[in-house]
Amino acid sequence: MSYPKRYLITSALPYANGLKHVGHLAGAYIPADIYVRYLRAQKRDVVFVCGSDEHGTAIPIQAMKEGTTPQAIIDKYHFAMKQDFADLDISFDIYHRTSSPLHHETAQEFFTYLNDRGELETKETEQYYDEEAKSFLADRYIKGTCPNCGSDRAFGDQCENCGTTLSPDELINPVSTLSGNPPVKKKTTHWYLPLGKHEQFLRTWILEQHKDDWRNTVIGQCKSWIEGGLQSRAVTRDLDWGIALPSSLKGGLGKVLYVWFDAPIGYISATKQWAIDNGKDWKPYWQDKETKLVHFIGKDNIVFHCIIFPIMLKLHGDILPDNVPANEFLNLEGDKMSTSRNWKLEMRDYINDFVKKENGGGQCVDMLRYYLTQIAPETKDSEFTWKGFQDAVNSELVSVFGNFVNRTWVLMHKLCNGKVPVFHNDLIDDQDKQLIADITASKEKVESLLEQYKFREALYEVIDLSRKGNQYMQKKEPWILAKKLAPLNPPQGGTSESGNMKRSLNIDDTKAPPSEGFGEASSLEGREAAQKSIDNCLHLCLQLSANLTVLIHPFLPNTAQKMLHMMKVVDKILDWKNAGSLKLLSVGYSLREPQLLFRKIEDAEIAEQMEKLKAGLVKAETGSLTAGQAGQKSDLTPQASDLKPQIQYDDFTKLDLKVATIIAAEKVAKADKLLKLEVDLGFEKRIIVSGIALHFKPEDIIGKQVVIVANLAPRKMKGIESNGMILMAEDKDGKLKFINPDEASANGSSVS
Ligand code: MF3
Ligand code: ZN
Repeated sequence: MSYPKRYLITSALPYANGLKHVGHLAGAYIPADIYVRYLRAQKRDVVFVCGSDEHGTAIPIQAMKEGTTPQAIIDKYHFAMKQDFADLDISFDIYHRTSSPLHHETAQEFFTYLNDRGELETKETEQYYDEEAKSFLADRYIKGTCPNCGSDRAFGDQCENCGTTLSPDELINPVSTLSGNPPVKKKTTHWYLPLGKHEQFLRTWILEQHKDDWRNTVIGQCKSWIEGGLQSRAVTRDLDWGIALPSSLKGGLGKVLYVWFDAPIGYISATKQWAIDNGKDWKPYWQDKETKLVHFIGKDNIVFHCIIFPIMLKLHGDILPDNVPANEFLNLEGDKMSTSRNWKLEMRDYINDFVKKENGGGQCVDMLRYYLTQIAPETKDSEFTWKGFQDAVNSELVSVFGNFVNRTWVLMHKLCNGKVPVFHNDLIDDQDKQLIADITASKEKVESLLEQYKFREALYEVIDLSRKGNQYMQKKEPWILAKKLAPLNPPQGGTSESGNMKRSLNIDDTKAPPSEGFGEASSLEGREAAQKSIDNCLHLCLQLSANLTVLIHPFLPNTAQKMLHMMKVVDKILDWKNAGSLKLLSVGYSLREPQLLFRKIEDAEIAEQMEKLKAGLVKAETGSLTAGQAGQKSDLTPQASDLKPQIQYDDFTKLDLKVATIIAAEKVAKADKLLKLEVDLGFEKRIIVSGIALHFKPEDIIGKQVVIVANLAPRKMKGIESNGMILMAEDKDGKLKFINPDEASANGSSVS
């Protein structure tokens, strides 16, 4: 097989508007990292680029939410995301950002190049404009009533309530979120990329040339775009956050490039910056046909990476992606991951709760990488569950892979003086031959799967090889053979050591602990034969362990490093061509004591995570105002910038806070988080629905005094009208507590 001369591998540039969750990680980052680590082990010329996507309306909107500036937002999240990726050992060669001057220049040059050659069209249209804010309104800046479900919280691009995709014109009673006024229509000119002109190119390139090597899900989406009729796409916007159009361009003043025009060009500017930093030439990576370009993305990015960006690249004279292995979505505990509903597991949360804990570190990084690869949504959506995570770690990593390596090391120390024993060729038997065949075959299997972006199956092969190692050892039973060594060669080491070994030998030592039962008197020949069988078994198990190190390394880099340490060998052994070899460890070489590769995940850890997940949902769903939410929910250290924008005294006096007593409480059917409460305000009784069911039992809160927002507009939840909101605070463990007067007060009295 001949390989491409060089590789350029990209992972989708994440928006710098918030922390990313494990769904993102499984979709675009872990698979890319596995592929790149494999290519590096193959000694191929490869550059792996990524960076923050810092334009688009997502950024100023997040700034508005957090009451700060767009610049502060991108700085905060750029560095936070970069750190998260580093903590999970995603080995980018560069993590760049699209706010950099180099990127601005690169994107402007790209636009100019296309425009100068007449590849863009201009068109005048009418768009919504806010006269008070003197600003055209991006779709997200327009709110109104959803024509589909009637919710009054629909945006110009989508209704958050029913999920329907909308255009601003479809909204009933649109208002600008900038001023609150109804917008007016105003003429504006924009530049468009006419996709339709390139239909034939797309048909040939995707539907014919790549029909067999691209994933079905990717081909399917491309096909429906192409068949659906390719419309021209505006590549400019009336916005003040983004990359300004080139100043020489007539009519370009006040306009910026559409974020999806500039962001993928970010792959190119990242490559340029990498080249500058490393004294390399960036051009061949984008212009030489012998470069293999691969984009790792999630399925929501397919059209941009398979249709729009390739058209731009073709027009610009650059190479096209060889493959775009897009992943489907990862759900979490039976539901879609969602930032607005707070149903998600952020990378940072996992890092804090596992990696940074005392018993965490690299092994916890690898456990997550393992599970996310094992459930990778390569062909259909898949699901992260904490129970699944625990099972994958405990019954595969610990009991299969970790157990095999550990048994090998313990027995080798016990029965072969801590050295690689010789292999006696004359004694080779069918089981040995089978294992040797399995080792030799695994390289090609894993390699071919990786080359096809089948990371799930590739990882399965590696674990399966360790399973075969366990089965082999189970058949060979070196601990039984060890009985025949006595009494001439009693076990080395004191009782405490053998006690340790017993524990780490796991299952089999309970049947026949090697430190007991040296009853049989053996002849000299019997002893020699037994030692030779032991040697052969452990020789092969050690060579297999060395192979596993090479094979597991792209997936679980920390585990591979630990194994290298145990083998007392350097990184060089990770060279992919070593896989399949039976000569990786030399006979007589002494190896270190075993280290446990993985710890178990305890039930309590899983229970705690489930609690956390549910508590997060409660906060997001109910709108109970908690002390923690007075500032925007932030997963970073609370900062002054987390405060909401300043309000005037008048704004405050609009709130009517009153003391009330809970007089009845019951669970709401089909909503495990909601309680229906009746409160007594002295002058009236009313119903409030509150999302506190996971924190309080109905019977425990009857009679409690609380503070409520008494003049909040009614809102229906699960069909029950809620008339107000109960104020809550969060304690340090995230548990909700009522806010109430420190001594009983009259119901209905005002809080000010
Ligand atoms: N920021 C986009 C997202 O998170 C992805 C951009 S990928 C790039 O969906 F190609 F545009 F960089
Ligand atoms: Zn709707």
